[in-house]
Amino acid sequence: MANHIVAPSSGGNFPAKLTKQVVLCSLIAAFGGLMFGYDIGISGGVTSMDDFLLEFFPSVYEKKHRAKENNYCKYDNQLLQLFTSSLYLAAVVCSWAAAFCCKRFGRKRTMQMAAAFFLVGVVLNAASVNLYMLIAGRICLGAGIGFGNQAVPLFISEIAPAQYRGGLNVCFQMLITIGILIANVVNYFTSKIHPYGWRISLGGAGFPAIFLGLGSLLIVETPTSLIERGKAEEGLKALKTTRGVEDVQKEYEEIVKATETAKKIKHPFRNLIMKRSSWPQLFCGTILQVFQQFTGINVIMFYAPVLFQTMGLGADASLLSAVVTGSINSVSTLVAVFGVDKFGRRKLLIQAAVQMLISQVLVGAILTQHLKTTNAIPLPYAYLTVFLICVFVMGFAWSWGPLGWLIPSEIFPLETRPAGFFFAVSSNMICTFIIAQAFLTMLCQMRSGIFFFFAAWIVVMGSFAVFLLPETKGVPIDEMNEQVWKKHWFWHRFFKPEDEEQAKC
Ligand code: BGC
Repeated sequence: MANHIVAPSSGGNFPAKLTKQVVLCSLIAAFGGLMFGYDIGISGGVTSMDDFLLEFFPSVYEKKHRAKENNYCKYDNQLLQLFTSSLYLAAVVCSWAAAFCCKRFGRKRTMQMAAAFFLVGVVLNAASVNLYMLIAGRICLGAGIGFGNQAVPLFISEIAPAQYRGGLNVCFQMLITIGILIANVVNYFTSKIHPYGWRISLGGAGFPAIFLGLGSLLIVETPTSLIERGKAEEGLKALKTTRGVEDVQKEYEEIVKATETAKKIKHPFRNLIMKRSSWPQLFCGTILQVFQQFTGINVIMFYAPVLFQTMGLGADASLLSAVVTGSINSVSTLVAVFGVDKFGRRKLLIQAAVQMLISQVLVGAILTQHLKTTNAIPLPYAYLTVFLICVFVMGFAWSWGPLGWLIPSEIFPLETRPAGFFFAVSSNMICTFIIAQAFLTMLCQMRSGIFFFFAAWIVVMGSFAVFLLPETKGVPIDEMNEQVWKKHWFWHRFFKPEDEEQAKC
């Protein structure tokens, strides 16, 4: 098989079956999502546990228990927010390093590094005796998440045949949601174990990391990554086993062609920024993640217990409601697993934007009307709010959640894929950081207006999905430029032949 064979664009799907190996590899890799999700879910519960607050944030503890404290402001504390958000800063820096590792050492090794960082973080957190240890642990967890979130979606998108790529990639989000749910349940029980329940909560994060670390010993590297790193024979073999057919010649040639182009690009980051034909993917991949966070989802994921306590539900009822939202999040993700390769990406995004907009506006209206500074919201309205929040979470779970990861992992050509995906991952982390860091202060300042703030973002992102986002359903990953971008009513203008030649840096 000569490396110089250059195939024309196939213009369609390559032959492939959904093999057990691909399903298994995708599921194992998706354990990276479990690490991420567990951490998202655990933080909110732990930061509302009295034992934890007493040990590390005594002033927040006092403020929380002071009689007649302002409803909207009782948890507002920069240090407490730093506990939640420090992880995301570390993750941004590390996903940049991870983009290099993905290219140099492969997707599989990068996932193993993720598991190792994460484990160190878990040990530091569970054994913390002071704030420094706690934050150092969060930073290592952040490194684990940066490496994992960079490598896992890329791994799945490359290993999956085009016609099943969406559903398999959504397994990553599925495990994120299961992680969040498990964390909520764990918090529910450990909050009753005094005084060290929070240590169990934080220590539990070790399990997904161990699963990912051990599981990754069983998986194959993606054919693309093997061929890209000069292991053509192995890559061809991996392609045959992952596609479950012998006739992989065309796809192999397509990957070889992509790697040939990729080899000419010495500085993928520079190329991404300088070359006009990289801009559409860069813009769409990055903005999708920004939008994902500005749906306001993590206000609910991190602070659901805090939010529900703010509304006057007791500590137990609050954690329990977080379990309910967590379950709905997981179950609704199944709609995306089975629907994304059938309905396409855009339909899901647009439908869900409408659903999420309605629920955000209604929650905002109820809280404006009924939650004043010191009262508890009347119980029926509290439950209605929980219901509306569930409707919101449902919409997110089958759209902006999974597709925020899937689409950026499939739209870049190989030469800029890890670098481009880095921008997507890091904008997710930066926006998560901003929201985690700012939410409690925003809640204190904007009060119920915060829900209208997120509603306005949903209008913008819905319009983006309608007008600017191309459909990528079923398109082979190495043919996106030909089949998607160059044919899009708006983005095609970035692909003039003279631009292709420009800035081959
Ligand atoms: C997002 C997280 C969010 C989670 C909720 C993920 O896709 O990146 O920030 O907490 O979905 O399910």
